[in-house]
Amino acid sequence: MYTTELQKVDPQQAPTREPQELVDAFEARVADDAFIEPKDWMPEAYRRTLIRQISQHAHSEIVGMLPEGNWITRAPSLKRKAILLAKVQDEGGHGLYLYSAAETLGASREEMIDALHSGKAKYSTIFNYPTLTWADIGAIGWLVDGAAIMNQVPLQRTSYGPYARAMVRVCKEESFHQRQGYDALLVMAAGTDEQKAMVQDAIDRWWWPAIMMFGPSDDNSPNSAQSIRWRIKRETNDELRQKFIDATVPQVHLLGMEVPDPDLKWNEERGHYDYGAIDWEEFYAVVRGEGPTAKERMEARRKAWDDGAWVREAADAHEARRRIKAAA
Ligand SMILES: [Fe+2]
Ligand SMILES: [Fe+2]
Repeated sequence: MYTTELQKVDPQQAPTREPQELVDAFEARVADDAFIEPKDWMPEAYRRTLIRQISQHAHSEIVGMLPEGNWITRAPSLKRKAILLAKVQDEGGHGLYLYSAAETLGASREEMIDALHSGKAKYSTIFNYPTLTWADIGAIGWLVDGAAIMNQVPLQRTSYGPYARAMVRVCKEESFHQRQGYDALLVMAAGTDEQKAMVQDAIDRWWWPAIMMFGPSDDNSPNSAQSIRWRIKRETNDELRQKFIDATVPQVHLLGMEVPDPDLKWNEERGHYDYGAIDWEEFYAVVRGEGPTAKERMEARRKAWDDGAWVREAADAHEARRRIKAAA
């Protein structure tokens, strides 16, 4: 999730001309599947593309805690509450790894947080949808984290070392998130008619937003080719989307539910599902912050940041004292 480029940049727009021999050596290393590390020389456009992608990814992890955190106090059992708590904490951890990875590229934590809170930075649009019922929590784990896994598994081999290594751990945790979500829905789908209806309703509301998580289609995604050349991305948005649909449709049917797409059909010749047209207008409206809960999300983040000021001040004071002691 979270890794689709939402803001357009012009990779040609590097600030100064870069020495050709350095560019050539960089491209050769990338083509050779070697990792680029923080101290290595890299083109400015590569650095900026990564800062944008990794920070957007970090913001998405952090904002992603909100719709689910909303249900911790209302989880239907102690077991479900413990699972949900663990998952939401994992997402916080993912955000922190990723901010650290972006810092290795010269971005400052403060600037990144500021960009999020001021509305300048983007995060995954999926978190601007509300979580109305407990079935939504299952659907998020299964569909949203499921789509995230599709995106993030190839990122374990992305060309920037710190990002790739962060993804190894993140992916392990995401697979737990996906399973717990599906497991919660399996239980409900075997329950009362009312529970079954809740599951179908959650699928109806989360299916298309999950499909949109892969970002604009390839002919509308101008930075994709450059990102693939730099091996930041390894598969295009449409390839990942197709993989997700192919893997997920049988899971919908196993739940005894329907996919809310009348055009969905197995295509024997292609060996893939054909699917209906995506409502990109809705996608861009949500990117622009017009999602049902966009304002609420940012208010919650700003409040958490302000409420946590004393923790940051205490940590700074502790560090200052530790240094004085160490110097003495
Ligand atoms: Fe995550
Ligand atoms: Fe997750």
